[in-house]
Amino acid sequence: MSQEPKPSATPSRLDPELTARRDFLGTAATTLACGTCGFALLGSARLPKVAVLPSASKKFKVVLPPSLLPGQPFVPPGRSVAIFKDGDSVHAISTICTHLGCVVKPVESGFDCPCHGSRFAANGDVVRGPAPKALAWLSVSSAGGGAVLVDEGKVVPAGTKVSV
Ligand code: FES
Repeated sequence: MSQEPKPSATPSRLDPELTARRDFLGTAATTLACGTCGFALLGSARLPKVAVLPSASKKFKVVLPPSLLPGQPFVPPGRSVAIFKDGDSVHAISTICTHLGCVVKPVESGFDCPCHGSRFAANGDVVRGPAPKALAWLSVSSAGGGAVLVDEGKVVPAGTKVSV
């Protein structure tokens, strides 16, 4: 006479109902982790892009337009510099925002950043954040024949003007 096993009161590790629950929890955790990583990648892809990439040469020569008025900025095509001529003196201010590197736009009262709303005075000082500091003044020198040589890689103290 054979005896059938009695069902135990405590669940066993081999209980098919517990195994199914573990599989479900494992699948749910894996799906959640993959979803989190996917959203993190999407979020990093949407970060603001840096507007200016490093170029081989940061020095360039430019002839200022004869019609340039005092206090009026001249931005050479393809460059991130505003050049000002006041009488015989010239100075150059970077148009790279000090917040996250967007290119600021010259306006009548100074510069506006289109990315997060920073505003700068005509001398580059911060008027409204979130930019943490003033726009950089850049090295400029006379190149003869009415041309000036600007070095975008060399920052000079604010207020530095040179005679041309
Ligand atoms: S990059 Fe100019 S305000 Fe943010």
